[in-house]
Amino acid sequence: MNELSCTMIIFGATGDLTRRKLIPALHQLQYGGHLPEDFQVVAIGRREITQEEYREDLFHAMVAYTRILIDEDSWETLARRITYYKMDLTKTEEYRGLQTFLKERQHGENFSCNQLFYLAMAPEFFTVIVDGLKDTGILEETGNWNRLVLEKPFGKDLASAKVLNENIQRAFREEQIFRIDHYLGKEMIQNITMLRFQNTIFEPLWNSRYIDNIQISVSELDGVGSRAPYYDQTGALRDMVQNHLLQTLAITAMDPPKTMEADQIRDAKVKLLSELILFTEETSKTNVVFGQYESYKNEIGVQENSVTETFVALKLFIDNARWRGVPFYLTTGKKLPEKSAQVTVEFKAPNQCVQPEGEPCQVFDMQPGSQVNILEIKIQPKEGISLRLNTKKPSVISETVVAEMEYCQSCQNNFNTPDAYEKLLLDVIHGDSTRFTRWDELALTWYFIDSIHLDQVPLCEYEDLGRGPWEAHELLERDQRKWWHVE
Ligand code: BG6
Repeated sequence: MNELSCTMIIFGATGDLTRRKLIPALHQLQYGGHLPEDFQVVAIGRREITQEEYREDLFHAMVAYTRILIDEDSWETLARRITYYKMDLTKTEEYRGLQTFLKERQHGENFSCNQLFYLAMAPEFFTVIVDGLKDTGILEETGNWNRLVLEKPFGKDLASAKVLNENIQRAFREEQIFRIDHYLGKEMIQNITMLRFQNTIFEPLWNSRYIDNIQISVSELDGVGSRAPYYDQTGALRDMVQNHLLQTLAITAMDPPKTMEADQIRDAKVKLLSELILFTEETSKTNVVFGQYESYKNEIGVQENSVTETFVALKLFIDNARWRGVPFYLTTGKKLPEKSAQVTVEFKAPNQCVQPEGEPCQVFDMQPGSQVNILEIKIQPKEGISLRLNTKKPSVISETVVAEMEYCQSCQNNFNTPDAYEKLLLDVIHGDSTRFTRWDELALTWYFIDSIHLDQVPLCEYEDLGRGPWEAHELLERDQRKWWHVE
């Protein structure tokens, strides 16, 4: 059997994720000619609908969410590859029917025996699905591989994540499990590794001697919307920081991996995550800020006395030779003035001593008009890199002017920038786990998040579409710094 051929079995056929992300991504991959020839989708849902009705519904979702115009040929080809299968996935006996259905297709209609199970479902269903697959023998390997893709949230703390992981590992080995963090599929997050390790000019400076602080910020314009029931139980710390922001941090701050192989990269991230300095009662009080936007409690599905945070800002440190003493400031929030995500690296000023220890220190006064060098890695909506340099102002007197060098990737490539899900789906089909979270990484991120003494963290209200709570600004002002993304 062809290693790349694949039957993708989606649990959650009519859910938001399938309609908004998976099907548009598959359409895009079909259009680009990236899907294997032998590729089929079995979409599992509870609703009693015909194949035509299901495809029609997907078509409407595509119209709403695809990032290119719908290519009719590609859509027709993809639609023919999709089969809707109705079952109640909470009933173990129904997995027999699924097994029979798959076997018949695999024998009679040449569906591939390489099986990709995609759980586009809330995590409370993960265990029952995995058990159903295992107990009926659907996982018996008749193809080259079985792979499992899981969406977050993966647990709500370390203890619950461990239980979930043990349940899943009863049926799937670690190398078969692909835990999605869609930020790892974003172009500019992938570009961080490239920028750091394919340019001689950055890596020698990527340490506490030259870098003053690093900021990772993800702001959202929207509120919680229809996801309120999930979000109100989760909050920004677990919804965003534990996964997307800590993964971005790990990639930004890790030591160079020995090679660019999946496990070497993940080893480097694991080392970094194990070096995060845990929060104490005191630092939870001083270095973490929670916020809630003003109108949050009026959202449908939110408890009237909810204390869920929709905003987080925190300062953390890393205990290793490279980063000792350098603050990392992370922030994320909903209902802020714009949607944006970026990593900002603030270099030390030329009047700060950066000579190696023991060597005499040569410092230069800051000239009028000079600023610190700032490297911005812009993740979204614009994708690109900008670097601020001090240059001489053309004049007879010596004055400095800041030159901003900007590379806008999304302006050059426009709609050709692939969506994260396109890259990640292709990675799973190819068996490349580089951009997926390994269990030890996940465990360490929960361990770190669990160290925050939540009862010590103040919850501050902030204006809808305002600048976030002032306490978040004060966190940096106290250190004579500022958030660069809200300039
Ligand atoms: C998800 C969170 O993982 O990421 C959402 O659950 C959040 O609350 C979303 O809105 C943000 O992703 P993106 O790609 O729009 O920045």
